[in-house]
Amino acid sequence: MNRIKITLANAGNYFYLKNLTVNCNLEDFNSSIAEYNNYLTNEALRSMSDHVAFTWLLTEKANGKIAAYMSLIMDAIKLSFSEKEFHRLNYPFRTIPALKIAKLAVDQSFSDKYKGIGTFMVNSAERLAWACNTAYCACRFLTVDADLEHDEGVLSFYEKNDFIKNVEFYNKNRKTISMRKDLYK
Ligand SMILES: CC(C)(COP(=O)(O)OP(=O)(O)OC[C@H]1O[C@@H](n2cnc3c(N)ncnc32)[C@H](O)[C@@H]1OP(=O)(O)O)[C@@H](O)C(=O)NCCC(=O)NCCS
Repeated sequence: MNRIKITLANAGNYFYLKNLTVNCNLEDFNSSIAEYNNYLTNEALRSMSDHVAFTWLLTEKANGKIAAYMSLIMDAIKLSFSEKEFHRLNYPFRTIPALKIAKLAVDQSFSDKYKGIGTFMVNSAERLAWACNTAYCACRFLTVDADLEHDEGVLSFYEKNDFIKNVEFYNKNRKTISMRKDLYK
Protein backbone atom coordinates (compact mmCIF):
# COMPACT_ATOMS: atom_id res chain seq x y z
CA MET A 1 0.00 0.00 0.00
CA ASN A 2 1.22 3.50 -0.81
CA ARG A 3 1.74 5.38 2.42
CA ILE A 4 0.75 9.04 2.66
CA LYS A 5 3.77 11.23 3.33
CA ILE A 6 3.05 13.73 6.10
CA THR A 7 4.71 17.12 5.76
CA LEU A 8 4.29 20.57 7.31
CA ALA A 9 2.26 21.49 4.23
CA ASN A 10 -0.33 18.68 4.33
CA ALA A 11 -0.41 17.56 8.00
CA GLY A 12 -3.39 19.83 8.71
CA ASN A 13 -5.52 17.79 6.30
CA TYR A 14 -5.14 14.68 8.45
CA PHE A 15 -4.10 15.72 11.95
CA TYR A 16 -4.38 18.23 14.77
CA LEU A 17 -1.30 19.09 16.79
CA LYS A 18 -2.46 20.11 20.24
CA ASN A 19 -1.39 20.22 23.88
CA LEU A 20 -1.99 17.28 26.14
CA THR A 21 -4.94 17.93 28.48
CA VAL A 22 -6.77 15.92 31.14
CA ASN A 23 -9.52 15.00 28.67
CA CYS A 24 -7.29 13.15 26.20
CA ASN A 25 -7.68 9.40 25.88
CA LEU A 26 -4.13 8.07 26.13
CA GLU A 27 -4.77 4.39 26.80
CA ASP A 28 -4.77 3.23 23.17
CA PHE A 29 -1.41 4.76 22.27
CA ASN A 30 0.99 2.02 21.22
CA SER A 31 4.53 2.76 20.10
CA SER A 32 7.01 -0.10 19.68
CA ILE A 33 8.57 0.73 23.07
CA ALA A 34 6.59 0.09 26.27
CA GLU A 35 8.52 2.75 28.22
CA TYR A 36 7.24 5.46 25.86
CA ASN A 37 3.66 4.21 26.21
CA ASN A 38 3.96 4.17 29.99
CA TYR A 39 5.35 7.68 30.05
CA LEU A 40 2.42 9.03 28.05
CA THR A 41 -0.18 7.18 30.10
CA ASN A 42 1.28 7.64 33.58
CA GLU A 43 3.76 10.52 33.62
CA ALA A 44 3.10 13.09 30.91
CA LEU A 45 0.19 14.91 32.59
CA ARG A 46 1.95 15.12 35.95
CA SER A 47 5.11 16.39 34.25
CA MET A 48 3.05 19.02 32.51
CA SER A 49 1.33 20.26 35.67
CA ASP A 50 4.72 20.31 37.46
CA HIS A 51 6.18 22.29 34.53
CA VAL A 52 8.98 19.85 33.87
CA ALA A 53 7.85 18.67 30.40
CA PHE A 54 5.31 20.04 27.93
CA THR A 55 3.60 17.36 25.83
CA TRP A 56 2.16 17.79 22.34
CA LEU A 57 -0.16 15.24 20.76
CA LEU A 58 -0.68 14.58 17.09
CA THR A 59 -4.28 13.41 16.77
CA GLU A 60 -5.89 11.97 13.66
CA LYS A 61 -8.84 14.10 12.56
CA ALA A 62 -10.84 11.15 11.23
CA ASN A 63 -11.14 9.23 14.51
CA GLY A 64 -9.40 11.19 17.27
CA LYS A 65 -6.65 8.59 17.73
CA ILE A 66 -3.23 9.72 18.90
CA ALA A 67 -0.68 9.13 16.15
CA ALA A 68 2.36 10.56 17.94
CA TYR A 69 3.47 12.63 20.88
CA MET A 70 6.48 14.65 21.88
CA SER A 71 7.50 16.24 25.18
CA LEU A 72 9.53 19.42 25.01
CA ILE A 73 11.71 21.02 27.66
CA MET A 74 14.13 23.91 27.77
CA ASP A 75 17.78 22.98 27.52
CA ALA A 76 21.30 24.35 27.31
CA ILE A 77 24.26 22.60 25.72
CA LYS A 78 27.97 23.02 26.21
CA LEU A 79 29.90 23.22 22.96
CA SER A 80 33.62 22.69 22.46
CA PHE A 81 35.69 25.45 20.88
CA SER A 82 35.59 23.74 17.49
CA GLU A 83 31.83 23.17 17.71
CA LYS A 84 31.30 26.85 18.43
CA GLU A 85 33.51 27.72 15.47
CA PHE A 86 31.51 25.33 13.29
CA HIS A 87 28.29 27.18 14.18
CA ARG A 88 29.99 30.60 13.95
CA LEU A 89 29.21 31.26 17.61
CA ASN A 90 32.13 33.40 18.64
CA TYR A 91 31.31 33.98 22.32
CA PRO A 92 33.41 33.58 25.46
CA PHE A 93 30.85 31.27 27.12
CA ARG A 94 30.37 27.61 26.26
CA THR A 95 26.71 27.14 27.09
CA ILE A 96 24.18 27.83 24.35
CA PRO A 97 20.36 27.80 24.78
CA ALA A 98 18.29 25.05 23.19
CA LEU A 99 14.91 23.36 23.08
CA LYS A 100 15.03 19.65 23.84
CA ILE A 101 12.85 16.87 22.50
CA ALA A 102 12.73 14.92 25.75
CA LYS A 103 10.33 12.28 24.39
CA LEU A 104 9.12 11.42 20.92
CA ALA A 105 7.11 8.41 19.80
CA VAL A 106 4.86 7.42 16.91
CA ASP A 107 2.04 4.88 17.28
CA GLN A 108 2.96 1.75 15.29
CA SER A 109 -0.45 1.41 13.65
CA PHE A 110 0.03 4.76 11.90
CA SER A 111 3.24 3.62 10.22
CA ASP A 112 1.22 1.37 7.89
CA LYS A 113 -0.77 4.30 6.56
CA TYR A 114 1.61 7.27 6.84
CA LYS A 115 5.29 8.06 6.65
CA GLY A 116 7.11 11.13 7.86
CA ILE A 117 5.19 11.51 11.13
CA GLY A 118 8.37 11.47 13.25
CA THR A 119 9.97 14.03 10.95
CA PHE A 120 6.81 16.17 11.11
CA MET A 121 7.06 16.19 14.92
CA VAL A 122 10.72 17.28 14.76
CA ASN A 123 9.78 20.01 12.27
CA SER A 124 6.96 21.13 14.56
CA ALA A 125 9.38 21.41 17.50
CA GLU A 126 11.60 23.49 15.23
CA ARG A 127 8.69 25.81 14.43
CA LEU A 128 7.95 26.27 18.14
CA ALA A 129 11.61 27.16 18.75
CA TRP A 130 11.52 29.73 15.95
CA ALA A 131 8.36 31.22 17.42
CA CYS A 132 10.14 31.48 20.76
CA ASN A 133 13.01 33.31 19.12
CA THR A 134 10.65 35.73 17.41
CA ALA A 135 8.80 36.84 20.51
CA TYR A 136 9.90 35.35 23.82
CA CYS A 137 13.39 34.04 24.43
CA ALA A 138 16.47 32.80 22.59
CA CYS A 139 16.99 29.23 21.46
CA ARG A 140 19.68 28.28 18.98
CA PHE A 141 19.48 24.49 18.86
CA LEU A 142 17.04 21.65 18.94
CA THR A 143 18.52 18.87 21.09
CA VAL A 144 17.77 15.24 21.81
CA ASP A 145 19.28 12.31 23.70
CA ALA A 146 18.90 9.68 20.98
CA ASP A 147 17.75 6.54 22.77
CA LEU A 148 19.97 3.78 21.35
CA GLU A 149 19.14 1.36 24.13
CA HIS A 150 15.80 0.50 22.57
CA ASP A 151 16.65 1.01 18.90
CA GLU A 152 20.05 1.82 17.39
CA GLY A 153 18.31 2.91 14.17
CA VAL A 154 17.04 6.01 15.89
CA LEU A 155 20.47 7.57 15.31
CA SER A 156 19.84 7.34 11.57
CA PHE A 157 16.37 8.92 12.04
CA TYR A 158 17.90 11.95 13.76
CA GLU A 159 20.78 12.20 11.29
CA LYS A 160 18.26 12.23 8.44
CA ASN A 161 16.65 15.14 10.29
CA ASP A 162 19.98 17.05 10.32
CA PHE A 163 20.98 16.37 13.93
CA ILE A 164 24.67 15.86 14.68
CA LYS A 165 26.37 14.32 17.70
CA ASN A 166 27.61 16.57 20.50
CA VAL A 167 31.29 16.00 21.08
CA GLU A 168 31.12 17.17 24.67
CA PHE A 169 28.77 14.37 25.71
CA TYR A 170 29.87 11.68 23.31
CA ASN A 171 30.68 8.48 25.16
CA LYS A 172 30.66 5.04 23.57
CA ASN A 173 29.25 3.42 26.71
CA ARG A 174 26.20 5.61 27.04
CA LYS A 175 22.77 4.26 26.16
CA THR A 176 21.86 7.59 24.64
CA ILE A 177 23.71 9.96 22.34
CA SER A 178 23.36 13.68 22.86
CA MET A 179 22.62 15.36 19.52
CA ARG A 180 21.81 18.84 18.26
CA LYS A 181 20.31 20.53 15.24
CA ASP A 182 21.23 24.11 14.45
CA LEU A 183 17.98 26.03 13.89
CA TYR A 184 19.75 28.68 11.84
CA LYS A 185 21.98 26.79 9.44
C1 LIG B 1 11.88 7.05 15.84
C2 LIG B 1 10.46 7.39 15.37
C3 LIG B 1 9.94 8.61 16.16
C4 LIG B 1 10.50 7.72 13.88
O1 LIG B 1 9.21 8.07 13.44
P1 LIG B 1 8.77 7.75 11.92
O2 LIG B 1 7.43 8.36 11.71
O3 LIG B 1 8.92 6.32 11.65
O4 LIG B 1 9.89 8.56 11.12
P2 LIG B 1 9.86 9.14 9.62
O5 LIG B 1 8.84 8.41 8.80
O6 LIG B 1 9.76 10.62 9.70
O7 LIG B 1 11.32 8.71 9.13
C5 LIG B 1 12.24 9.59 8.52
C6 LIG B 1 13.39 8.76 8.01
O8 LIG B 1 14.06 8.11 9.12
C7 LIG B 1 14.07 6.70 8.93
N1 LIG B 1 13.82 6.06 10.24
C8 LIG B 1 12.79 6.30 11.06
N2 LIG B 1 12.87 5.54 12.15
C9 LIG B 1 13.97 4.77 11.99
C10 LIG B 1 14.57 3.75 12.78
N3 LIG B 1 14.03 3.39 13.94
N4 LIG B 1 15.70 3.17 12.31
C11 LIG B 1 16.23 3.54 11.12
N5 LIG B 1 15.69 4.50 10.31
C12 LIG B 1 14.58 5.10 10.76
C13 LIG B 1 12.92 6.42 7.98
O9 LIG B 1 13.11 5.19 7.29
C14 LIG B 1 12.97 7.62 7.08
O10 LIG B 1 14.00 7.45 6.12
P3 LIG B 1 13.81 7.92 4.59
O11 LIG B 1 13.54 9.41 4.65
O12 LIG B 1 15.11 7.58 3.95
O13 LIG B 1 12.64 7.16 4.06
C15 LIG B 1 9.48 6.19 15.57
O14 LIG B 1 9.99 5.07 14.88
C16 LIG B 1 9.24 5.80 17.01
O15 LIG B 1 8.30 6.25 17.63
N6 LIG B 1 10.11 4.92 17.59
C17 LIG B 1 9.90 4.43 18.95
C18 LIG B 1 10.22 5.50 19.99
C19 LIG B 1 11.60 6.11 19.81
O16 LIG B 1 12.59 5.42 19.57
N7 LIG B 1 11.65 7.44 19.92
C20 LIG B 1 12.88 8.20 19.80
C21 LIG B 1 13.51 8.33 21.15
S1 LIG B 1 14.97 9.32 21.13
